[in-house]
Amino acid sequence: MRMPPEVNKHVQVAGTGSALPERIMTNAELSRMVDTSDEWIVERTGIRQRHIAGEDESTASLAWQASVRALEAAGMQASDLDLIVVATTTPDLVFPSTACLLQAKLGIENHCPAFDVQAVCSGFVYALATADNFIRAGQARTALVVGAETMSRITDWTDRSNCILWGDGAGAVVLRAAEEPGILGTVLHADGRYRDLLHVEAGVSSGLDKSRAVRMQGNAVFRFAVNTLDQIVDETLTRFGLQKSDVSWLVPHQANIRIIQATAKKLGMSMDRVVLTVDQHANTSAASIPLALDTAVRDGRIRPGDVLLMEAFGGGFTWGSALIRWTQQGGA
Ligand code: UT7
Repeated sequence: MRMPPEVNKHVQVAGTGSALPERIMTNAELSRMVDTSDEWIVERTGIRQRHIAGEDESTASLAWQASVRALEAAGMQASDLDLIVVATTTPDLVFPSTACLLQAKLGIENHCPAFDVQAVCSGFVYALATADNFIRAGQARTALVVGAETMSRITDWTDRSNCILWGDGAGAVVLRAAEEPGILGTVLHADGRYRDLLHVEAGVSSGLDKSRAVRMQGNAVFRFAVNTLDQIVDETLTRFGLQKSDVSWLVPHQANIRIIQATAKKLGMSMDRVVLTVDQHANTSAASIPLALDTAVRDGRIRPGDVLLMEAFGGGFTWGSALIRWTQQGGA
């Protein structure tokens, strides 16, 4: 690892990338597996389809594809990286971390640190905050931050209240130290008392033979998510001295369109200022924000000077936000 001599003032996103498995599962296909319908799923969640990883795909392989695209967009080589942070709830292995598997796939031999962050659906915001702080502290000048998941591997395909929600994919951003912002700030929170509302029973220490399917009391999680995101929007804007009207784009975690609509309403934003991918990708947990971000950057909606508000809520419970003033992509 190269040792930067001093703290860095600001951190910018230099490039974004994403990856989705080829296989698409529509609501019509799901309705042949469980007692549900396209109408119910679209009305209650906004989801129309999800991507499902094939046998030859994994969290690490999706993370690798997204990372290659983000590095290309940033005009950087993998060997330029000082840090790799991967947010995932569905790692390929117990260990090594998916970040280490990714480092090897990228062919990086510079010994940069690589580790995973586990904050379920808030994972990307947690990973972004971690890398932002590493760079500001002068421990890195560049970082690769990835959200990658194969949620289909921990989905109970017989549980209609749950299996309709999840999808697979990965999104990545390359961060770099800069003279101008960039990332204006991040806010992170957790409350560990709600494990029963959203969890997976299986675990290394508590038993790998237990159920590895996501268990969720959807309605209770829904209400908690809406209230909590309502509060974090205010907290974030106040902490970093911005008004609701300063936000150009909401780039939310894509759990359920009704949760996203509630946050947009709170911000006084029309839905055409919200990046929505939940209809196409479903809930890809830690991958959903970087997937949505890359979609809107590549189709030209997000432009330099725009202010982005990212927010997420997930198992733990965990929740968090990031405010970013968007800057030119590619080499500095
Ligand atoms: O990503 C991080 C955290 N996760 C979330 O933020 C997800 C939060 N929760 C949700 O998105 C929603 O709660 C769900 C989409 C999971 C469920 O929607 P809901 O509107 O909260 O439904 P519900 O669980 O209250 O169920 C309402 C009814 C029930 O029938 P009865 O008891 O009223 O007759 C369910 O049995 O809908 C029924 N139902 C379904 N019907 C058709 C539940 N799932 C289905 C289904 N198809 N797939």
